Amino acid sequence: METRKIQKIGVFTSGGDAPGMNAAIRAVVRACIHYDIKPVGIYRGYDGLIAGDIEELSSRSVSNIIQRGGTILKSARSMEFKTPEGRKTAFENIQKFGIDALVAIGGDGTFRGAQIFSAEYNIPVVGIPGTIDNDLNGTDFTIGYDTAVNTAASAIDKIRDTASSHNRLFFIEVMGRHSGQIALRSSIAAGAEATLIPEIPMNVEELVNLLEHGAGRKKSSSLVVVAEGGKPGHSIDLAREVNERFNHYDTKVTILGHLLRGGSPTVADRVLASRMGVVAVESLLNNKSGVMIGIVNNQVNFTPFDHATTNVDNFDSEMLRIAGILSV
Ligand code: F6P
Repeated sequence: METRKIQKIGVFTSGGDAPGMNAAIRAVVRACIHYDIKPVGIYRGYDGLIAGDIEELSSRSVSNIIQRGGTILKSARSMEFKTPEGRKTAFENIQKFGIDALVAIGGDGTFRGAQIFSAEYNIPVVGIPGTIDNDLNGTDFTIGYDTAVNTAASAIDKIRDTASSHNRLFFIEVMGRHSGQIALRSSIAAGAEATLIPEIPMNVEELVNLLEHGAGRKKSSSLVVVAEGGKPGHSIDLAREVNERFNHYDTKVTILGHLLRGGSPTVADRVLASRMGVVAVESLLNNKSGVMIGIVNNQVNFTPFDHATTNVDNFDSEMLRIAGILSV
């Protein structure tokens, strides 16, 4: 595709949805209008690009959505886009609808797709990190993470009420495919006894020791926050194993799962999404492409897609240390 003046920008959400995606869509659409560019919405991520499920958006199409969870554009994990034929059809639709550039809102899978597509067809694409997992290089926070952590912390608070009434040990599983970030932050915020994360694994023996130590200090109940680590439900096996060695408490498991993906975004997520949406449009107008927008130390940052998604190294071990000190 020849480089030409950008007159029409397509925006889509892809992969797992995240609270704040609507605020990002709104910001992209309104920034387009501000710069006299036509915004179009692509439904169901790359699947909608292949199907031509695309329509023009206006200022009013994004009214009253900044506070809503989910994504008005819907989302999908497209298998077809992984094939050259799927991407060819997607590009034919880009031409048919006169789209000059794309804003992709999503996580690692979304950006890997964007990288291949923009290289194959020379179409400018910038990314906005939208995933509750906070598992990308190049940004302090992804859109949706703060909301998910707040949802998790308030759920753990409620579990604490019932755990302490009945002297119980609870395993609370939170999302995070390859990342313990939701687990660790919500665990600190809710004052849990232990956090199990994929980055720094703890074996059953260590966990039992820790729980015995707490029981020895007269804790009437204990909460263990477990990151799913790509195996949703594995807290059930873990609870069974622990219970075989340590039966001081009655043991229960709660899996928060997709609950963490829903709900109204926090102020932090709404503002992050609004800022990133405007920067996405401005960076396309400044001829940027192939990069994910991030905010690092409150400054805008651009990270090439391949770096944003490869060998992700954003785990803050200091937080684990803090959690350890506070959980006695
Ligand atoms: O959005 C990322 C994530 O929340 C992961 O933590 C989780 O493993 C995954 O999505 C599950 O998503 P789905 O059930 O939509 O495939």
